[in-house]
Amino acid sequence: MAEKLLEIRNLTTAFMSENGFVKATDRISLNIEKGQTLCLVGESGSGKSVTSLSIMRLIDYAGGSILEGNIRFNGDDLATKEQDQMRSIRGNKIAMIFQDPMSALNPVFTVGEQIAESLRLHQNKSHSEAWKEAIELLRLVGIPAPEMRAKQYPHELSGGMCQRVVIAVALACKPELLIADEPTTALDVTVQAQILELLMKLKEELGMAILLITHDMGVAAEVADHIAVMYAGSIVEQGTVEEIFSNPSHPYTVGLLQSIPGFEGKRGNELYTIKGTIPGLGNLPKGCRFNPRCPHVMDKCRQVEPGDIQIGAEHSTKCWLYEDKDRNGVSVSGGIGGNANG
Ligand SMILES: Nc1ncnc2c1ncn2[C@@H]1O[C@H](COP(=O)(O)OP(=O)(O)O)[C@@H](O)[C@H]1O
Ligand code: SF4
Ligand SMILES: [Mg+2]
Repeated sequence: MAEKLLEIRNLTTAFMSENGFVKATDRISLNIEKGQTLCLVGESGSGKSVTSLSIMRLIDYAGGSILEGNIRFNGDDLATKEQDQMRSIRGNKIAMIFQDPMSALNPVFTVGEQIAESLRLHQNKSHSEAWKEAIELLRLVGIPAPEMRAKQYPHELSGGMCQRVVIAVALACKPELLIADEPTTALDVTVQAQILELLMKLKEELGMAILLITHDMGVAAEVADHIAVMYAGSIVEQGTVEEIFSNPSHPYTVGLLQSIPGFEGKRGNELYTIKGTIPGLGNLPKGCRFNPRCPHVMDKCRQVEPGDIQIGAEHSTKCWLYEDKDRNGVSVSGGIGGNANG
C-alpha cells in the first residue's frame, strides 16, 4: 500500500458574494500518494485553481475562506494552520508553478541569481555554493549550456526555457509535492510535451509527488497515475488512469474523453464538445450539478444530488446511473464509457 502524502477530506472553500458565501469547492476529497502524480481535470471555472490555492493557503489572500474540511499533508492539517506556519511549508515542502512563467520570474535578475536566491533562502547555502547548485539545477531541468544561461535575464530566454527555470526555482527547496497549475497552457505544443516529459523525469528521479492541474484529458493520459475529474466545484469521478480511460463512468468524464482528438470512443472525425456551459457557482441546478448538460439525465437527477458511488477498488463516481452498481470495491464493467455518444 502506497504511503499517503496529501489527504483532502470534504474541503469546502467559498467566496463571499452579495448573496452570501458561494462554494468554489464543495466537500471535495482527494488523495496523493508519495511519488505519484494526480491530475485534476475539468473545464475552466470548475474550481481547480481554487483547490490548489487552498492547499497552499494562498486562498486566504485571494478573498476565499475554507469553510469545512481537512488538508492533511504528512498527517498535519494545513486547513487550520496560521499563515506564519504556512510560510515554512510553502516553497519548502510544497512548491507551486503556474501557467505563465514570465510573471513568476523577476525581470531584473538573471535566472541563475533567482535560483541561487531560492537556495540561499531555503537551504542556507553560501553565494558560491548556491551559484554552483543553480547551474546544476539548470542542467537537471534540461537547459543547454547552463553556465552561460545562468547569466541571462528572463527576456533573453524562450517561454519554454523560462518554464524550465521556474521549475528549477521550485526544485531548489526539494519539495515533496509540486503543484503545477496548467504549467504548459501558455506554451506551444512541442514545448508543452517537453515540459511534461521533464516533470515526469523529475518525479522519477527525485521521488516527488505532483498535483498537475489541466483542462486537457490528453495531458492527463500522458502523465497521471490517478485522475480526479472536477465539475462546478465537485469531484465527479476519480480513479487510476487505467480505470478512467478503460471504464469512464460519469457522463461528464465521457464527454471530456470524447473531446480528445483521436480518442477511440469518439464518433467520426469531428471534435466532440459537451453541450452547454458550466453553471455559475451562485446558480447551481438542483440535484446533480451536471444535469442540464447530461445526455442521460433522469427525473431523479433533477431532484437529488448523487454522492460518491464506489464502482471499482479505486474508482468512484457521482452519478445515479451507477446506483445499483455500488458494490463497495467490486469492479463493474460496462457502464456508459464504451458507447456513450452524447
Ligand atoms: N478571487 C475570487 N473571488 C471570487 N470568486 C472566485 C475567485 N477565484 C475564483 N472564484 C470563483 O471560483 C470559480 C472557480 O475558479 P477556478 O478555481 O479559478 O477555476 P479553474 O481553475 O478550474 O478554471 C470561478 O468560476 C469563480 O466563480
Ligand atoms: S446523475 Fe443523472 S444528470 Fe448527473 S451525470 Fe448521472 S445521469 Fe447525468
Ligand atoms: Mg485555473
